[in-house]
Amino acid sequence: MTLAYDWAGRVGDTWADEWRRTDLSFANLSPHLNAAILDVAPETGTAVDIGCGAGGTAIALAAARPALRVIGIDLSRNLVETARGRGAAYPNLRFEVGDASELGGITADLLFSRHGVMFFADPVAAFTRLRHGATSDAHFVFSCFRDVTLNPWAIETGSAVTGAALQKPGTSPGPFAFADADHVRAILQASGWTGDAQPVDYSYRAGEGEHAVDEALAFFSRIGPAAAQLRELDSAAREAGRERLRGVLAARLRNDIVDFPASAWIWSCRPA
Ligand SMILES: C[S@@+](CC[C@H](N)C(=O)[O-])C[C@H]1O[C@@H](n2cnc3c(N)ncnc32)[C@H](O)[C@@H]1O
Repeated sequence: MTLAYDWAGRVGDTWADEWRRTDLSFANLSPHLNAAILDVAPETGTAVDIGCGAGGTAIALAAARPALRVIGIDLSRNLVETARGRGAAYPNLRFEVGDASELGGITADLLFSRHGVMFFADPVAAFTRLRHGATSDAHFVFSCFRDVTLNPWAIETGSAVTGAALQKPGTSPGPFAFADADHVRAILQASGWTGDAQPVDYSYRAGEGEHAVDEALAFFSRIGPAAAQLRELDSAAREAGRERLRGVLAARLRNDIVDFPASAWIWSCRPA
C-alpha cells in the first residue's frame, strides 16, 4: 500500500465523494477493459477486483457473469461503502476493506483491476502475493496509464495552476508508476507472472452537460495533479490558479463535453 496517497484516509474519501466524476473520466476506457476481462472470465469460480474503488468494474463483471463470485477489495472504507451501495442488487458480488495484495485468504481464478495496481510500495512483493493467491491457470487483467506525455489531461491540467511544466513522474507509487511497459514486464517476471500489454488511446472525459467546464473544474480541483498544487496555495493564489485551470478546461470544450486525449495499457497476464 502507499502512504503517499493515503488511500485509506483523505484521498480515498475524496474519491468516494467524487465517484461519479472518476467513473466518467474512465467512461471511454472501461468498455475496452471490461471486454478484455470478459474475454477470460470464467462462468463460475472467484474473481477479485484489486483496488476496486467505487466498484464500477466489479459491478460490470458481476452483471455479466451471474454465477461467478466477484469480490472487490480496497483500502478505503468510504469507497467500499460506496461500492456496496452501488452493487447491492448483485447476490454474487461483495466488497471488502483491506490490502488487496493479500486477497483476504481467497484463491482467485481471475484477478482484475482498473488502475488499482500502481500504488503498491513494493510491487514485486504485492504481485508475488497475488500470484500465490491465484490458481495455476488464473488470468490477471489490469489497466494503467501509459507515459504522461501521451496523457495531455495530466500535462495540461498539471501545468495550468502554476505555469510550471509538470515533472515527469518516475516509477514510485502513483498513477504513472506502470507507464513503462518494460518496468512492468520486469515486475511480472520477478513475481511469477507473464503478460502482454495492449495500448488503448481514449478520450478522458473531465466534464459533460450544460455546465461541463464547471464540472471539470470541480473534478480537477479535488483530484489529480492540479488539485495537489491548489492545496499548497494561499486563497488568493488558489483562486488565480483555478481561473488558469478553468481556461485550460474551456479550451477543450466541444459540444458540451470537456475531453482530453489519454492513453492506457491493458495488461493480460497468466502465471508463468
Ligand atoms: C486510481 S484508484 C482506482 C479505483 C477503481 N479501480 C476505479 O477504477 O475507479 C486506485 C484505487 O486503488 C486502491 N488501492 C491502492 N492500493 C491498494 C491496496 N494495497 N489494496 C487495496 N486497494 C488499494 C485505492 O484505495 C483506490 O481506490
